[in-house]
Amino acid sequence: MSTAANRVSTFGTTIFTTINTLAAQHHAINLGQGKPDFDGPEAVVSAAVRALQDGQHNQYAPGPGYAALKQGIATHAAAYYNLDIDPNTGVVVTAGATEAVFSSVLGLVDPGDEVIVIEPFFDSYVPNIIMANATPVFVPLHPPDWTFDPDELRRAFNTRTRAIIVNTPHNPTGRVFTLEELRLIADLCIEHDVTVISDEVYEHLVFDNARHIPIAALPGMFERTVTIGSLGKSFSVTGWKVGWVYGHPRLVEGVGRAHQFVTFAVNHPAQAAGAFAFTLPGTYFEELQAMYTVKRDLMMQGLTAAGLKARVPEGTYFVMADFSDVFEGDDIEFSQYLTRDIGVACIPPSPFYSQQHAIIARKQARFAFCKSDDLLRQAGDKLAKLRK
Ligand SMILES: Cc1ncc(COP(=O)(O)O)c(C=O)c1O
Repeated sequence: MSTAANRVSTFGTTIFTTINTLAAQHHAINLGQGKPDFDGPEAVVSAAVRALQDGQHNQYAPGPGYAALKQGIATHAAAYYNLDIDPNTGVVVTAGATEAVFSSVLGLVDPGDEVIVIEPFFDSYVPNIIMANATPVFVPLHPPDWTFDPDELRRAFNTRTRAIIVNTPHNPTGRVFTLEELRLIADLCIEHDVTVISDEVYEHLVFDNARHIPIAALPGMFERTVTIGSLGKSFSVTGWKVGWVYGHPRLVEGVGRAHQFVTFAVNHPAQAAGAFAFTLPGTYFEELQAMYTVKRDLMMQGLTAAGLKARVPEGTYFVMADFSDVFEGDDIEFSQYLTRDIGVACIPPSPFYSQQHAIIARKQARFAFCKSDDLLRQAGDKLAKLRK
């Protein structure tokens, strides 16, 4: 009998699909998936329309990416992080950051290698590692501050460690790793000759005094790091699925070799619009931050008033909240109860942990605040019912 491969036998339906279905069934306000309910910048959308109509962008794009977009990515990395990226040999455009991570794992990790993953993790990392026949090794962040224990991190490194996936600003905790945290990771990577796959899709979503530091910019790290970004996150066009990997040409070459046989090339009109997006004035990112600061504050007010305890996120558009004062069960039960009985959908974070550490998330829920202010206020009103 024909059957599915063993490789995918442990992959269930993603929690996002499960929660989206439940939210739709109960007409709940969906603060589950990190999907803005507003459009990307009008000028960027117009650039996509022009690209669709100008007769130049409806066939395959160059495999490694549209030249002007690769140039935009390199110019941005120089302007914001002082990184010297060669747009021809140091950038690959991918089908979203999702493919960027997968092609990085396939292109930089061998079967049997270990890859360190910080928990809670973005849900595709572990299946990506498994599909590459490598082994994930888990290091948890601990609530309420969502920091890792330096000794736990140190113990995860050994002679089999090939790579670590770092995500800052961090989904789902909203942490922005400090220079000290990144230095410790960097020192261990240098000591053990380990590659960093740095997922920085929320690089421009940082608040107050937090500062996003790309680990590639630390001494000795450029030659061992690939950095990942996403047009969807930086320009609120998640549906376009355009991402990228940049870094030292020796590493990016490996990623590119995998990429050419994963997707070969990425949506051409969306890349042309992405190139235009990188020409927007720097004030665009400041406005994005200001807009999200208001949303974060609205979300925090709603959660706090409802009796949930949450650490104010320094970055991303997610917040993790501890519901132990208002609900008895675990995170899966809470997300079902909240969606069904309160009318607000959230994501239970235990699927973002290994089995051994899922207990850490038992009393936590992730809320996405990339939603209109009005919807966030409505969600706050509904959440207030939790107190009663
Ligand atoms: C940490 C992280 N990495 C990667 C992705 C995927 O990004 P993309 O939509 O560009 O594939 C997401 C999306 O939510 C994310 O949160």
